[in-house]
Amino acid sequence: MSAAFPRLWQEIATIGRDSRGGYLRYALSEPELVLRDWFRNQAARRDLPVTEDGNGNLFAWWGTPWGHRAVITGSHFDSVPHGGGYDGPLGIVSAFLAVDALRERGFEPRRPLGIAAFVEEEGGRFGVPCLGSRLLTGAISPDKAAALCDRDGITFGEALGVRPAGALPDLAGRVSAVVELHIEQGRALVEMDAPVGVASAIWPHGRWRMDFTGSGDHAGTTRMADRRDPMLTYAATVLAANEEAREAGAHATVARVEVTPNATNAIPSLVRGWLDARAADTATLDRLVEAVVKRATERAGQDGTELAVEPESVSPEVTFDTGLATRLAGILGGAPILPTGAGHDAGVLSAHVPTAMLFVRNPTGISHSPAEHAPDEDCAAGVDALATVLEALL
Ligand code: GLV
Ligand code: MN
Ligand code: MN
Repeated sequence: MSAAFPRLWQEIATIGRDSRGGYLRYALSEPELVLRDWFRNQAARRDLPVTEDGNGNLFAWWGTPWGHRAVITGSHFDSVPHGGGYDGPLGIVSAFLAVDALRERGFEPRRPLGIAAFVEEEGGRFGVPCLGSRLLTGAISPDKAAALCDRDGITFGEALGVRPAGALPDLAGRVSAVVELHIEQGRALVEMDAPVGVASAIWPHGRWRMDFTGSGDHAGTTRMADRRDPMLTYAATVLAANEEAREAGAHATVARVEVTPNATNAIPSLVRGWLDARAADTATLDRLVEAVVKRATERAGQDGTELAVEPESVSPEVTFDTGLATRLAGILGGAPILPTGAGHDAGVLSAHVPTAMLFVRNPTGISHSPAEHAPDEDCAAGVDALATVLEALL
């Protein structure tokens, strides 16, 4: 195995790492800005000019920026809070190494290649995932994106320093293909004994903010029968979501919660929880969310509490370009083709441009956790695979 992957990977391994080995790389926060500087340096080392699209996305160009029928690769630097280091950065590091590999082969592209670092893919800071690619494609308006707030009340517009530029005119005309390489977030490739796979589809998914409102009061003096405790409604809803998802063969998670006032001896006045729901098809997802909201509403009636549900982001079902996926799998010697329940910028871009994803084997399947990992040999195989498909597309 070439030493190129571990060498370059080590350059970013400590950036934003927390004391338990996870990563805090919120979009446009200090560690992510350091990673963006690293990106600019890598581009400069390779004589790749860098452009910014006014939405927070960076592009390093081999060839004319946004020149005719460009190919886009890359991924994102931001992590979920205390998540793994591979989800996102692997696609960017692999892209630079794929350019090196192609140049070593003496390959000369006939179209420009743009290596992208998309902003706020996880939605970990401003709540809406794939914010950069949504802006680039016009899937979210600049004003709506600019007003999104982080936990400290800083808006995306403030963090970016300008009003987002919004959709790039004629994206479909300018770009001929997109390929995002990503760590697999499951164990399918382990089971198929393959280091690299090609994506077929992304499950439709979304995030719903649920505000459970009750009556704040004293934990020691309020009789049990007199309480209007939104924590009970919240807790029952978490259990209901789990049950409904299991029955539907879908996924539902409530993993983020904010409690007001969050005091041991005060019945809360407000519990705000976020439902992350995903399913293999849109009808199942819609039924799942409807069932969870219905049960939450019934429970609120019993508890004397109130419920308000607000969709924060909904990502439709994605079927990647079947012809492109089949072609890339063939070029890669019959790589497996597999779907995923995880969202990606490639999913957003796929509504506009022929788009594909390469997945790199993850031995445990764990992701969004410090335990997320891919062995160097498989990452190097990912770089080779990316170089091979880029050579074909360029
Ligand atoms: C992003 O990784 C998501 O699927 O939430
Ligand atoms: Mn992720
Ligand atoms: Mn990702």
